[in-house]
Amino acid sequence: MTETMPESHAVLRTVAMPSDVNGAGDIFGGWVLSQMDIAGGIIAIERAGGRVATVAVEAMKFIRPVKINDILCIYGEVESVGTTSIAVRLDAWVLRGYKGASEKVTEGVFTFVALDEEGKKRPIHNT
Ligand SMILES: CC(C)(COP(=O)(O)OP(=O)(O)OC[C@H]1O[C@@H](n2cnc3c(N)ncnc32)[C@H](O)[C@@H]1OP(=O)(O)O)[C@@H](O)C(=O)NCCC(=O)NCCS
Repeated sequence: MTETMPESHAVLRTVAMPSDVNGAGDIFGGWVLSQMDIAGGIIAIERAGGRVATVAVEAMKFIRPVKINDILCIYGEVESVGTTSIAVRLDAWVLRGYKGASEKVTEGVFTFVALDEEGKKRPIHNT
């Protein structure tokens, strides 16, 4: 598990809001997962050149909690491309509150399938 914040640009940056907390006052894991799904979808759409759907989430780790006002930054890259699927490795980091200390909070591999206009899987062309 890498613990050095990536130097590349984040695919997605957003702020954790009070509406996203659980009863303990931490941010829901499901909210973080959905932000990773959106970020991975952006990468997969660019690689597939069109519509994709999430088909699997693997190797998902929740490493540290996300708090209100944290800035969530999601980094990702294509890990592998199959006939119709793209595996995207994603890491989420937070900049804590207004102080800006960075900590890795989650990581996982999201797999997307390229779809045609009818929602059926389609081959991904080499680039
Ligand atoms: C995506 C979908 C069209 C695929 O249809 P399918 O005919 O069952 O597809 P296959 O089983 O042939 O798998 C297609 C590709 O996904 C990969 N895949 C399928 N399940 C996988 C899993 N659990 N983990 C990793 N890869 C997986 C296959 O290996 C294959 O990759 P390849 O073509 O690169 O070799 C269909 O599963 C679907 O509509 N799923 C719902 C997607 C969705 O709504 N997502 C949002 C969730 S709310």
